[in-house]
Formats: sequence, structure tokens, C-alpha cells
Amino acid sequence: MTLVELTDVSKHYGSVRALEGVSLEVRAGEITCVLGDNGAGKSTLIKMIAGLHRHDGGTLRIEGEETTLSSPREALDRGIATVYQDLAVVPLMPVWRNFFLGSEPRRGAGPFKRLDTDLMRRTTREALLRMGIDLRDVDQPIGTLSGGERQCVAIARAVHFGAKVLVLDEPTAALGVKQSGVVLKYVAAARDEGLGVVLITHNPHHAYLVGDRFVLLRRGTMVGNHTRDEITLDDLTQQMAGGSDLDALRHELHRG
Ligand SMILES: Nc1ncnc2c1ncn2[C@@H]1O[C@H](COP(=O)(O)OP(=O)(O)OP(=O)(O)O)[C@@H](O)[C@H]1O
Ligand SMILES: [Mg+2]
Repeated sequence: MTLVELTDVSKHYGSVRALEGVSLEVRAGEITCVLGDNGAGKSTLIKMIAGLHRHDGGTLRIEGEETTLSSPREALDRGIATVYQDLAVVPLMPVWRNFFLGSEPRRGAGPFKRLDTDLMRRTTREALLRMGIDLRDVDQPIGTLSGGERQCVAIARAVHFGAKVLVLDEPTAALGVKQSGVVLKYVAAARDEGLGVVLITHNPHHAYLVGDRFVLLRRGTMVGNHTRDEITLDDLTQQMAGGSDLDALRHELHRG
């Protein structure tokens, strides 16, 4: 099932054209990777799905219905959870507090008010375990976790609170090889839970390890949109590297 579909969207910031003619499909149980260099428009693209920016050309469909999102809250209410690179956590608060932070209203006032801290602790531990994350102590401040572990907690949280679509902006950017592998494992676990995942990355190797679809952006335009069986890792790497000096020169020549 197609959960989110962007067709031929564009986005301007004033006179700056950040995106033009970009399409993207997110399906349940699949990982759609968005690849591109700095400034390619990756974050701009996901901000449209996350309800932070309105697209100003093209269409956005959620579960087949053409729509616009007016706020991150609305996106969340429609099942789209976004994990930003600078995870919005409160470092000194325990893991379980962070796990529930900001999600209280969605639970409805009645049942939530009866939740006690022991239940929240237990729920956090169980939600993490369900994703295969064995965190010994959910009482430790989240700031004491590694960057990779924090990403994993954020992924487990989105799954627990019933997200249909999970958007991850460069979850492995600041991580070493081992931690990246762990995070990608949980990205795949979210997919296996049936979520549609959007994974943004600079790294074609990370993308190819888990991706089902690959959208390549370069300077705000889409230079590739492939399913996994249409493209090899070598091709993907080459397309990523394709933003060469020659391309940049051509771009400048034909601009405006
Ligand atoms: N709020 C803004 N106002 C004006 N221009 C912006 C704004 N946000 C982004 N841009 C511009 O839009 C283009 C795309 O930016 P975007 O942040 O989407 O790229 P990115 O692919 O996420 O890059 P990075 O890999 O560095 O995160 C860039 O040229 C950027 O300068
Ligand atoms: Mg970005």
C-alpha cells in the first residue's frame, strides 16, 4: 500500500528554488532512501512530509488522498513520525521520560492520567525489547546513551506510538561503522513491523544495505528514482558521485 506519495513537487524559499520536479513514494513495509549531497534538498523534501513546509507545486497524497499538511502535529496525527538529526530529547531526563515526552495528548486524557511511572518504565522497556533493543536501565538519563542508541530509542518510540510512516533524517551521519550497523538494523526492524520508512543519507552503502527504493537528488532536482531491482550498488555509488565538476559547470551554464 502506498502511504505517502509526492508527485512532481517543487519548493521555493523566496527566490531560491530548493526543489523542482521531485517525486517520491513511500509504501508500507518498504524503505525509501533519499540520497544526495549537501544542499541537494533532502531535508526540504522531508519537511514537506513532516508538515513543516508546504509544497508549492505538485501534489502530496497520503493513503491515496490528495492533501496538504499545515503543521507537524497534523502530520503526526496522520501517522507520520519524523526523527530529526538533532534528536529533540531532554538529556538529563531518564530514557522512559523521553520515550513518553510529547506523546501524552495522543493517548487521550482518560487512560493516560492513570499511567503510573512504573507502567511507563515497563512500557518503555517492552517497546525497546520488541525492537530487539536490550537497554539494561531505562532510568539512566538519555544523555548518557550513545548517538546510535538514542536513534534506536527514537525509532522504537515511533513504532510504539503507532506511526505508519517513519522519516529519519541522516540517522547514521555522525556514527561510526558499528553503530551505523546497529541503527540500520532497527530501521529494517521498523520496516518489518510494516511501517513505511524514509531514510535520508549521504551514504549509498548504508542506503543499499536496507533500501527498497532510491531517490537521488542533486541541487534540488531528481536525478534518479529506482527500485532495488533496477539498480546495483555500483550504479548507485556512481550516480551519487556524479555531481562532478563537469556537471556543476553544465548546471551553471544552463541556469536561469
Ligand atoms: N529556510 C530556508 N531558506 C532559504 N533557503 C533554504 C532554506 N532551507 C534550505 N534552503 C536551501 O535549499 C537548498 C536545499 O537545502 P536542504 O537543507 O534541503 O539540503 P540537504 O540535502 O538536506 O543538505 P544537507 O545534506 O546539508 O543536510 C539549499 O540550497 C539550501 O541553502
Ligand atoms: Mg539536510
